[in-house]
Amino acid sequence: MAPPPEALLAQLAGCAGLLSLFTDRVDGALLDAVGPQLRVVSQMAVGVDNIDLDACTARGIPVGHTPGVLTEATADLAWALLLAAARRVVEGERYVRSGGWKTWDPLFMLGLDVHGATLGCVGFGRIGQAVARRAQGFGMRVLYAQPRVLAAAEAGAAQHVPLETLLRECDYVSLHMPLNAQTRHMIGTPQFELMKRSAVLINTARGAIVDPQALCAALQSGRIAHAALDVTDPEPILMDSPLLQLDNLTITPHVGSATLQTRDRMALLAADNMLAGLAGVRMPHCANPQVYAPG
Ligand code: DGY
Repeated sequence: MAPPPEALLAQLAGCAGLLSLFTDRVDGALLDAVGPQLRVVSQMAVGVDNIDLDACTARGIPVGHTPGVLTEATADLAWALLLAAARRVVEGERYVRSGGWKTWDPLFMLGLDVHGATLGCVGFGRIGQAVARRAQGFGMRVLYAQPRVLAAAEAGAAQHVPLETLLRECDYVSLHMPLNAQTRHMIGTPQFELMKRSAVLINTARGAIVDPQALCAALQSGRIAHAALDVTDPEPILMDSPLLQLDNLTITPHVGSATLQTRDRMALLAADNMLAGLAGVRMPHCANPQVYAPG
């Protein structure tokens, strides 16, 4: 359980460095309460939406994060969710364990083809690109939507399209953008209206990119076929969330980077960032590099 703000503060008083998780809210009030001796924040995550970067920059505090080392593990989990949703793996498991498996039926538990289908990545940074690379093995067409159009060498076979086109044409829509003011609830009712009724939404990025009420309505009404989520809004999901009543939802507890090797690499990178920050040298991965700008 993440420490409540008062407990965090009690531990931090007098510290020169703060090693944070994305479950900790790091804002100006916390920074001020910790005191002017705080020289570095090092977060063991790539996403830093829990940290007020402007507040850190204004106080000259570099913020470390851990991009790169969790790319492949997170892409693997996006694919685990995609395949589980397409082939109803979790539902099948529940069915067998509850004693439902009595015979074989040609029309029983039909899923969706993955091979040859169209995958859309909304956000095409490191993780989106890693998800797209895996799609080649499944003979998929890949579209991506994001403001920046990539050079062919970076985009591979993936084609840049407007978000609306991606939503209309894709069988699988996978989210890979950071959470910020522009992306909060970026996928809501108007976006679900554009999607195929057979579409599957996969979210391994941040829960609040999707409007949870709109998602629930889209799944309940069959507006889309399935959602596979590793992240929710709020997080953890509330046990009385209507989403948890739905068979067309597959859910995991924010474990995209949760492999032994990846978590080791994240911890080491977070330690390197912390040590650099304490030593007053440029950290390997800084989320607010403008803090180093001269003047
Ligand atoms: C991150 O790094 O931002 C993840 O969500 C946790 O691995």
